[in-house]
Amino acid sequence: MGKIRKAVFPVAGLGTRFLPATKASPKEMLPVVDKPLIQYAAEEAEDAGIDQLVFITGRNKRSIEDHFDKAYELEMELERMGKQRLLEIVQTILPPTVNCIYLRQADVLGLGHAVLCARPVVGEEPFAVLLADDLIQVNGRGVVGQMAEKYERYGCSILSVMEVPRDKTDKYGIVRTRTDPDGMLRVVSIVEKPAPGDAPSNLAVVGRYLLTPGIFRKLEQTRPGAAGEIQLTDAIAALLADEPVIAHLFEGKRYDCGSKLGYLEATVEYGLAHPELGTDFADYLRRVVR
Ligand code: G1P
Repeated sequence: MGKIRKAVFPVAGLGTRFLPATKASPKEMLPVVDKPLIQYAAEEAEDAGIDQLVFITGRNKRSIEDHFDKAYELEMELERMGKQRLLEIVQTILPPTVNCIYLRQADVLGLGHAVLCARPVVGEEPFAVLLADDLIQVNGRGVVGQMAEKYERYGCSILSVMEVPRDKTDKYGIVRTRTDPDGMLRVVSIVEKPAPGDAPSNLAVVGRYLLTPGIFRKLEQTRPGAAGEIQLTDAIAALLADEPVIAHLFEGKRYDCGSKLGYLEATVEYGLAHPELGTDFADYLRRVVR
């Protein structure tokens, strides 16, 4: 069973929910405290042993490439000013063993289409998909790492899931599962953004997937679905006919940084957990709340 070596980051979306902030810069570059969302996602992949990062980009996304590239002028300037700590921060965004590959998705036709764009680079290997606006705070291993461990055991596609309130099922891909004798949650069906009355459960897929290359053959045949987009969820539903897919109830707390409220919550929590700022920020929040 192959190791997971590649991760796909669909980052071509328009980020309309954050306008005007995202008019000229990508939503994936919005910082939570001092790191852009895309860096949290890249670090999570890297922590899982992944060394090829495949970004599916679009117009206005140049700054993502710049962020993971060398910044000669900045580095020279920091060196000259003797700012060693900052120099180290900008030089170690990714370890030198990690490669970044950028592909352009000219038409934004949906998440499924974005993943299909990665096919020439991913080929016949299992791979991870990370949606950077789902930020997941963990104590131990990152969610992709948790899933990679499961992959080594089961060798099939894995979807990370969490329970959501019944009235929120129309914001997510929703799975129905059954528990196999060994305790594994086997996905029986999946549907994109069902109305609460039609939802098969309240188990929602969040933005972390491990997929076998079989998904590409299904994506090729997937027609536009919910919202007129080519949905990854529909291709996964088709994959279920051929291959087992399991659900992983991840350990960690997920913030929906694609919404303003979720983004603010993440900012507060990561601010409180920040080694340099945490104490002062907690004092400040206490004063504000009082
Ligand atoms: C996408 C997927 C959906 C999934 C969600 C997780 O939706 O289509 O199945 O539950 O990500 O964040 P989006 O949030 O892009 O509309």
